[in-house]
Amino acid sequence: MTIRVIHGPNLNLLGKRETHVYGSLTLAEIDTQIAERARELGVSVEISQFNSEGEIVEAIQQTADSADAIVINPGAYTHYSIAIRDAIAGVKIPTVEVHLSNIYGREEFRQESVIAPVCVGQISGFGAHSYLLGLEAAKRIVSGR
Ligand code: DQA
Repeated sequence: MTIRVIHGPNLNLLGKRETHVYGSLTLAEIDTQIAERARELGVSVEISQFNSEGEIVEAIQQTADSADAIVINPGAYTHYSIAIRDAIAGVKIPTVEVHLSNIYGREEFRQESVIAPVCVGQISGFGAHSYLLGLEAAKRIVSGR
């Protein structure tokens, strides 16, 4: 089983960016945790970060041939990217939306996700652990338990 993990815009700045909101781990450190959890779960992961919306859409489209599930943190695109929403709906691959911060406890403009309705579910607010929970959820969805 292969799970595609996609980090959206500005997540490459983790560790330096608003650490009071997103924590002090770098993206590389989070990716190491994801890879370790994947090993424990017995799944393969492919992890990438993209700043542009088009690259994320392309990565989702390519996933149709290369992975069984997607775990995505769409970053700010969460709140307005119909293109990413349509890509997820179009590939019909089970997708879990994750966020480091609890988007429902933040500014009003962050409290809506246009992506969540086409995902199986959303995990928000557990810092880097959101990704690990997302991975576990994705595995369970694909294996049917
Ligand atoms: C985020 C929340 C978004 O509102 C924000 O734009 C991000 C990160 C999170 O992981 O908490 O870039 O997706």
